[in-house]
Amino acid sequence: MTIVILLALSLAAAAMTTATAATAASFSIELIHRDSPKSPFYNHSATSVDRARASIYRSAHQARQIAARVQRKSVIEPSDAVSRLFPDTFEYLMELRVGTPPLSILAVVGTGSDLTWANCVPCTKCYRQTAPLFDPRKSSSYRTLPCTSNLCKAFSGSSCGEGISCEYHYAYQDGSNIDGVIATEDLTFDSSAGSPLVFSNIAFGCNSQSSGSFSSRAAGMAGLGGGPASLVSQIVPSLDKKYFSYCLVPKSDTQASSKVIFGSAGVVAGSTVTTPMTVEDSFFVLRLEEIIVDGAGSVPVPPSAPGLKTGNMIIDSSTTLNYLPTGVLSSLVEQVSKVVSLPKATDPEGVMPLCFTVTGESDRQKLPFITFKFAGEASLRLSPTIIFMDELSFGGNVVCLAVANSGSGLPIFGNLAQQNLHVGYDLDIPAVTFVSADCAQL
Ligand SMILES: *[C@@H]1O[C@H](CO)[C@@H](O)[C@H](O)[C@H]1NC(C)=O
Repeated sequence: MTIVILLALSLAAAAMTTATAATAASFSIELIHRDSPKSPFYNHSATSVDRARASIYRSAHQARQIAARVQRKSVIEPSDAVSRLFPDTFEYLMELRVGTPPLSILAVVGTGSDLTWANCVPCTKCYRQTAPLFDPRKSSSYRTLPCTSNLCKAFSGSSCGEGISCEYHYAYQDGSNIDGVIATEDLTFDSSAGSPLVFSNIAFGCNSQSSGSFSSRAAGMAGLGGGPASLVSQIVPSLDKKYFSYCLVPKSDTQASSKVIFGSAGVVAGSTVTTPMTVEDSFFVLRLEEIIVDGAGSVPVPPSAPGLKTGNMIIDSSTTLNYLPTGVLSSLVEQVSKVVSLPKATDPEGVMPLCFTVTGESDRQKLPFITFKFAGEASLRLSPTIIFMDELSFGGNVVCLAVANSGSGLPIFGNLAQQNLHVGYDLDIPAVTFVSADCAQL
């Protein structure tokens, strides 16, 4: 199965990708967390408790969107499955420079999304945005994409419009939607070598209509999913290595920035562990085998999960919490309860089933390390500061196991568990490699 998917992906990439960069080098982009002072979403009057709670709320929303998408997909043809993830559950933003001369666009990072888009002139019915709209007439590199092209066909939800242009209509789960034409454009990034790297002929959705819960502070979306037409899949073939990695700084560090690195400069090195990876419905899929609680027993994980064909868990940087199936979660809660002798508490948001009251640092030290063991002997021993979520109450005395129930949705390895890990995606093997890192220093 893995081989079939790999072949299909590389054939698709070979057939469609005409992206070219001036030189086949590496480059990195800053990932701006929505709650960092650099973000236009930064709210200086919010407390860390407000932020933690809001992130749990978004996480629950994101998991529900993923569940709804999986359920819908199982009853109708994949090509009709146009329900996308709720736009406002995003966690990170990144700057895209689109066109010639480049216009800087602050885009929401969409994991599980392929299309990269912005609101364009003329936007007959678009949500109000603070930044200027992208004007195709002012860009010499803008080309509409023929709907007969393979690149157009690679987007589910695309269709032939008048004059054979490639059109899309995406309805997001919460009722938001976008309409427009897919063009190809030049994208410019700063390379580590200094001079900018220009990637030509990258598929780019130009919205003529957009409505719903989009924020006026974001001007587009960067499709960092794993599908053949995502930004990642279009860029990596012209780099020195089909590889990208990211390193997420802990949320408590508001000064340092997280980043995503494309090409060989991002290769994860040191005492690494590697696990096979597949792509399904533009999600990156892993196989979790077992969870081991220090001082207690191990929790086996069924090899398959409803809604996934090739593994049992997706790895996602846009979901804060981890999500596990009901049976696995209840065994995990049982094992953790065995070793933690602290008074139980309740998650104020009602999302995480196991919480404790802590009264000081010595209580925090009673929380165990928990190892997530992925296929291929890839064990990640997660420290209590990462697998438990803190600052959930005023006074900071409630901590919860950062795991929620995936119910009928997909199990998710979320971004809290990935803090201070350098996570590399080798799209050739394909596999994901992890190593502990100080992401602020990377
Ligand atoms: C900022 O945070 C405060 C405190 O949580 C909240 O009352 C307010 O509504 C927030 N403002 C915005 C614009 O989200």
